[in-house]
Amino acid sequence: MSDENAVKMTPMNYSKERPAAENPVKVEDLTLRDGHQSLFATRGRTEDMIPVAEMKDEVGYWARDVWGGATFDTMHRFLNEDPWERIRTLKRYIKKTPFSMLLRGQNLVGYRNYADDVAGAFVERAAANGMDIFRTFDALNDFRNFETFVPVIKASGKHFQGSICYSLTEPRMGGEVYTIDYYVNKAKDLEAMGADSICIKDMAGMIAPYDAYALVKALKAAVQKPIHLHSHFTSGMAQMSHLKAIEAGVDIIDTCMSPYAFRTSHPAIEPLVMALLGTNRDTGFDIKHLAAINEILEKEILPKYRHLLDDTKISVIDINVLLHQTPGGMLSNLVNQLREMDALEKIDQVYAELPRVRRELGQVPLVTPTSQIVGIQTVNNVLFDEGNERYKMITAQVKDLCYGLYGKTAVPIDPEVQKKALKGYERGEEPITCRPAEVLKPELEKAKEETKGLAIDLDDVLIYALYPITGKKFLRWKYGKEQPPAEVKPRTLGDVRKEKELIQKAKAGKLVEKKEKEAPPKSENVRTFNVFVGDDYFEVGVDEIGGSPMISYVQPSGPMPWTAPMYAPPATPAPAAAPAAPAGPRPEPAVAPAAPAAAKAPEPAAKTEPARPAGEAAGTPLPAPMPGMIVSYEKKVGDTVSQGETVVILEAMKMENALPAPIGGTLKAVNYSSGDTVAKGDVLCVIG
Ligand code: CO
Repeated sequence: MSDENAVKMTPMNYSKERPAAENPVKVEDLTLRDGHQSLFATRGRTEDMIPVAEMKDEVGYWARDVWGGATFDTMHRFLNEDPWERIRTLKRYIKKTPFSMLLRGQNLVGYRNYADDVAGAFVERAAANGMDIFRTFDALNDFRNFETFVPVIKASGKHFQGSICYSLTEPRMGGEVYTIDYYVNKAKDLEAMGADSICIKDMAGMIAPYDAYALVKALKAAVQKPIHLHSHFTSGMAQMSHLKAIEAGVDIIDTCMSPYAFRTSHPAIEPLVMALLGTNRDTGFDIKHLAAINEILEKEILPKYRHLLDDTKISVIDINVLLHQTPGGMLSNLVNQLREMDALEKIDQVYAELPRVRRELGQVPLVTPTSQIVGIQTVNNVLFDEGNERYKMITAQVKDLCYGLYGKTAVPIDPEVQKKALKGYERGEEPITCRPAEVLKPELEKAKEETKGLAIDLDDVLIYALYPITGKKFLRWKYGKEQPPAEVKPRTLGDVRKEKELIQKAKAGKLVEKKEKEAPPKSENVRTFNVFVGDDYFEVGVDEIGGSPMISYVQPSGPMPWTAPMYAPPATPAPAAAPAAPAGPRPEPAVAPAAPAAAKAPEPAAKTEPARPAGEAAGTPLPAPMPGMIVSYEKKVGDTVSQGETVVILEAMKMENALPAPIGGTLKAVNYSSGDTVAKGDVLCVIG
């Protein structure tokens, strides 16, 4: 069988000679972005990227994925790092290999569509700071969402990599939507838009080896631009799919250094180097050099992140992806969300509801943010729907999706769901069909206005424009206006060592379990004793239970109204104090209830209504249906609200939920403010 793309090999002694390959596979390294995003919750710090940066620059990668995706969010929110500074810092160490970033279309590096002015400014600043390749995708594969910034990428002289999200509705490629023709047409669209390369973005690791082969063959035949395959290892197929894609003539593939590879991350580079050694597609990489880099990563870097690795399962592959055609990260989010709501037993209902919700919402690909949108709505349906009424609690993002704010879905949204979602929707009840950002008002000037006196340049303004709440908080840390909390500080190897010692002690049985009993506060009457037991000596503090004797006074010898008692009874009624005192010798109370002084005591304060803590204002409480962060209150104390009207916007699992008033009335109390974290059941406000 003759095949012009077949991987060919000439027999020779490879330990002595290694001729340059005819058509080497180009490789992008994902270690510094998707690698730690997939395995270590995107918590990689810039300082930990530097030790091997120069060594890796010598490997010969086509590009390195270093920025974008979730990094922008986690850096400013959890690491107290300026996201822009990372690009500039890494550029000082990595001079040969181009930088690639993941750009979520008009969502940029956030979770909603931003206005055109923000999108243009963001891409321009990313290019100016040092990004070379813009891997761009849209969660709906609606490429109108690239229109604003493709000219900006081009004008900056940078590489526009158009991506197509790989999605399935069936176990394998095909079905009513995601066929080979679908992908070929999308690739042609991207080429027509000026894409410099085309990426198949298999974010969930769902591409099967023979589908990868067929798809790459078809794409190579249909378009001129290089084809790039991005596949996650999650389901265990990615290495096989890589090899089949290479056989089909794929130009570029994505890998990680082995300590950052596998599980929900990507195939490792080292086995691929060996697999292709001596073939016409040999990468040309030096495996010994890679091993030297790995050694540093293993010893000096990874111990700081090990605790973030999800080691709840022994298996490194997630066959649920094969069973549900759903990203592994999305499934674990669903499980976490259910666990936080004490409803983990409903996971099977969630699995059953998920394909239904996805179909009703237009059979969208499942990738950030659509995976969260579909996932959270599914959980909401399972938890809050009653009887025959479905979609009882619709998230703000589902409303946006139904309005057309994310773009055009693969198939039309279920009209009934759409109608219900758009009832009373603030932008209008009629969905739009134009390019989504056309209905968005410019946002940049407002962001500049709102960061006056805080932001010093456009990069700062953009942090705020993308993430108003956490971005502002970060800028306050950055400029010393607020002390960053301890949890944003880096973990050191010293911390890791201490923890390791503790674990070893525990394993050796040398750690005594600490009693969880909380010590009562010491009173000022505590007396210290030295206690000697054999050769041991302890210093023991003794405090009478119930506190010190409450009364020290001079007992008047008779009723002498002119003698004021030295001790006035507490405002709380005397009987309340009495039971607190344990049986045992203690002085008589100074003032018995019948004593004249007590009788004349001022009216006890207890008679007046005690000041209620804010959460206990009289009325109907609105409890948080799920844990999350307060985005905003739509009403303030004293406002009149009608039943069903939105009172609070609560962000949970990155989705905004508009919480309606349980009854009509006046808003009596507002218990939190924007940016506060709340637990499930916390009373957000009270209506009376
Ligand atoms: Co990825």
